[in-house]
Amino acid sequence: MKRFENKVVVVTGAGIGIGYEIARKFAREGAIVALNDLDKSLTQKAVESITQEGGKCIGIAGDVSNVGFIQELVRQVNKEYGKIDIVIPNAGITLFDNFLNYTEEKLSKVIQLNIIGSFFLLQAASKVMIENKTKGKLIIMSSVTGHQAHKDLAAYGLTKAALEMLARSLVIELSPYGININGIAPGATTTERTSSDKNYNATWSKITPLGKPATTTDIANVALFLASGEADHITGQTIIVDGGWTAISPGPETVN
Ligand SMILES: NC(=O)c1ccc[n+]([C@@H]2O[C@H](COP(=O)([O-])OP(=O)(O)OC[C@H]3O[C@@H](n4cnc5c(N)ncnc54)[C@H](O)[C@@H]3O)[C@@H](O)[C@H]2O)c1
Repeated sequence: MKRFENKVVVVTGAGIGIGYEIARKFAREGAIVALNDLDKSLTQKAVESITQEGGKCIGIAGDVSNVGFIQELVRQVNKEYGKIDIVIPNAGITLFDNFLNYTEEKLSKVIQLNIIGSFFLLQAASKVMIENKTKGKLIIMSSVTGHQAHKDLAAYGLTKAALEMLARSLVIELSPYGININGIAPGATTTERTSSDKNYNATWSKITPLGKPATTTDIANVALFLASGEADHITGQTIIVDGGWTAISPGPETVN
């Protein structure tokens, strides 16, 4: 029996990158994965490659910053499989700019997906879990920028810190139903997006204590752990996966 045999998992923003690897690993461990991405062709490609590896995966393309779409996604998955066990609102956007230039339009976009999208997916999924009496697992996707100041990421960082507080806050309402909510805060992670910057690996290898950025596997492994029975007594927590980056501050040697 595989670790997640017949568990129904929803992962958003999973056409590529961290979300894709999470979806792939759950499918390899026997789960039925509902994979979402904004981009239809990426959704289709991701579903095809997971299916080719022998996984059970359906694609539901659409915008998870749209609350109506989120509710429809949850309704559809619950109708198809009769339950939802694990939900990972992974989709998130980063819009870099300095604080003094940041526009209302940019801030609204980042908040709409990262906070409002995650919040209402967690809400819709929790209602279904409670209705079905499923002791489910929810995992928010934070970032080290929710912990440490990072140039041009004030808006993004505030959304990630907010998600971690949301995970802590929901412990009050969800624990009586046996639903766990935790988070992952990845540091620099090599994905299709980040590797479009040619200096990414070299730069982060220099400034990460463990000597390299994370892989999507490093992050996905933590998602599977938090969703497993091994993490049954962990709730309200966020695990930082950053090779030690947030543990240190610049030392005198960096200026000498
Ligand atoms: N990659 C990193 O270094 C890193 C570090 C810390 C945190 N994170 C967080 O991890 C998560 C995944 O990051 P990533 O770099 O793998 O993602 P990414 O930027 O590569 O995007 C993954 C997918 O999300 C989809 N997406 C974007 N907006 C969407 C929407 N509104 N609805 C549905 N899908 C949408 C995109 O089409 C894309 O295919 C994000 O929440 C991100 O903030 C990433």
